[in-house]
Amino acid sequence: MSSHIQRATELVAEAESVVVLTGAGMSAESGVPTFRDAQTGLWQRFAPEQLATEEAFRANPSMVWTWYVWRAMLVDSVDPNAGHHAIGTWQQHLAARDGSLTVATQNVDDLHERGGAQDVLHLHGSLHSYRCLECGTPGTFDPASTGITADQDFDHETFVPTVHCDHCELGVLRPNVVWFGESLPEQAFAAAVSALQQAQLVVVVGSSGLVQPAASLPLIAHEAGASLIEINPAATTLSDTADIYIPSTAAVALPELLADIV
Ligand code: APR
Repeated sequence: MSSHIQRATELVAEAESVVVLTGAGMSAESGVPTFRDAQTGLWQRFAPEQLATEEAFRANPSMVWTWYVWRAMLVDSVDPNAGHHAIGTWQQHLAARDGSLTVATQNVDDLHERGGAQDVLHLHGSLHSYRCLECGTPGTFDPASTGITADQDFDHETFVPTVHCDHCELGVLRPNVVWFGESLPEQAFAAAVSALQQAQLVVVVGSSGLVQPAASLPLIAHEAGASLIEINPAATTLSDTADIYIPSTAAVALPELLADIV
């Protein structure tokens, strides 16, 4: 066991209130590409502005729908990795001892929930929920109904039916994810800030720390006196601030870190 992990396990053993903040790297070992990693990154072929903005959606709804339906089908075709399961077990372990563990994620997949975590705070929304572009009313849509599959290449534009809103009948459904330039869901963000202000330990896993305001969340806790552990195979702007930076991956480091618990 590396010295990083050894020192980190001591912080884990003492912590009764924990926040785990995750980014796309958390799901990488499940087979879900991250956004900015070279070669595999999703943004290699398309700029975020072409796929993850309201303007892009209004200009080309079928292309943007194809991108999100393809990602939903991909997530549905993979499994949570050992890191997701370790976090879920850690949360149950603390809850059984009147402690608490809050998961706040930038990820729009449901792998934390499928790995056993409860009450996950989705700071950037969810691939599996939809709302009206005009009135915001939640709507239902079955991505499997499009015939798009995880193993096809998402840039083959596949026409996705424009699904109308049941409530206002004017708007069309859009994915309920946070697009560039949009604000984060207030309730999830406020709950994350509150948990961070009370945390003794924050573990940041798989986030490049490039997208605000989520990227600033670890500093809220650190300034409030929490210990900060970062797990990422590549150093980020947070690595020098973290009390312990573990240069490893989610599915390797988390089970090691939590070996005495999970
Ligand atoms: N384990 C842990 N971390 C990993 C792994 C892994 N197996 N593989 C890659 N990483 C790290 C990378 O080193 C990188 O720092 O995960 C990070 C992924 O960074 P991004 O692709 O930028 O994803 P993220 O930080 O979640 O992006 C934030 O930007 O594109 C928007 O809305 C999108 O939520 C996303 C946000």
